[in-house]
Amino acid sequence: MGTGPMVAVYGAYGHTGRFVVERLRERGFTPVLSGRDADRLKAAAAATGAEARPAAVDDPAALDRALAGTAAVVNCAGPFATTAGPVAEAALRAGIPYVDVAAEIEANADTLARFADRARAAGTVVLPAMAFFGGLGDLLATAAMGDWTAADEVHVAYGLSGWHPTAGTVAAGAVSRERRGGRRVRFANGRLEYRHDDPPTLEWPFPEPMGPRTVIGEFTMADVVTVPHHLAVPEVRTYMTAEAARELSGADASAPAGADGRPAETFLVDVVVRSGGRERRAVARGRDIYAVTAPLVVEAVDRVLTGRARTSGAVSAGALFDAPDFLRALSPHIAWEARP
Ligand SMILES: NC(=O)c1ccc[n+]([C@@H]2O[C@H](COP(=O)([O-])OP(=O)(O)OC[C@H]3O[C@@H](n4cnc5c(N)ncnc54)[C@H](OP(=O)(O)O)[C@@H]3O)[C@@H](O)[C@H]2O)c1
Repeated sequence: MGTGPMVAVYGAYGHTGRFVVERLRERGFTPVLSGRDADRLKAAAAATGAEARPAAVDDPAALDRALAGTAAVVNCAGPFATTAGPVAEAALRAGIPYVDVAAEIEANADTLARFADRARAAGTVVLPAMAFFGGLGDLLATAAMGDWTAADEVHVAYGLSGWHPTAGTVAAGAVSRERRGGRRVRFANGRLEYRHDDPPTLEWPFPEPMGPRTVIGEFTMADVVTVPHHLAVPEVRTYMTAEAARELSGADASAPAGADGRPAETFLVDVVVRSGGRERRAVARGRDIYAVTAPLVVEAVDRVLTGRARTSGAVSAGALFDAPDFLRALSPHIAWEARP
């Protein structure tokens, strides 16, 4: 086990949590495994040699024991509508940074709003959506903006070759849908708008070698929370390749990602920002949206713990980090380029 600072991973035995534990070790941290199922935690600890500290989210004392002596906590247990509040509260009590991988729009917005004052007053960081959805798009949009401080529109187009979601993703989607009462959500006119109509289908001109693809427009992802939280942009639109959107809606939550032996999806994230008729673009490529979340979130933890965060408070990735420098550090997991 590493000798570096201890970092707690809540939801450590989940699909994403396991990638995060492995990446923390690779980066020299000492992961401490937490989550609600003591037996699954014990098994994960035995497999990794890490310490297991079980805690349910409705047991603050157990959460305090789980975080004792750690330098930061990464929350990988979704639905985050249930877990983000209690784990972030425990992080504030412990005086340590809280980072999560939530892709739930309303839960991310809640986390940013609920902890804004206390995180700032404590001089600590509460960082939701530090993951493929929410975090990467925000970093790319921020990098593409360059010296612009405002833009008219940000578009984030996800070119996924497929999408075999985990049980956690399917459950998080169900919670979000229920919260929206059957409506869909988009970010327009500077705010989240809830609508009853169908989202548009259109063609998105992904850069080669992917080329033009049919996408679902207003397939709204966490970037609509992270980007406008720190950039003055009234329109943030996200798009998803139609075949990946179809796979998500027909997903069987009982079959975990990778269980069918199919290779993980490849991705191309194409971000376009427009201001006064001018356009800038940033593109990222890689594979496995769950695995790639680990280098994203561990890079964030490392930067926060080594004084490379630009601010404190409840913030998103683009506000917290030097975006181009952060993106460069993700190689070889993610390749990116800005296209002025
Ligand atoms: N933003 C992104 O790009 C991104 C990337 C990766 C993952 N995610 C999100 O992260 C979450 C986890 O994904 P995953 O792939 O790891 O799914 P997973 O393999 O199904 O794991 C889910 C984990 O959350 C735990 N959990 C669920 N509800 C809990 C609760 N109420 N209290 C304590 N623990 C709870 C589960 O524990 P039990 O088994 O005991 O229920 C399990 O450890 C999902 O919401 C997913 O959408 C987002």
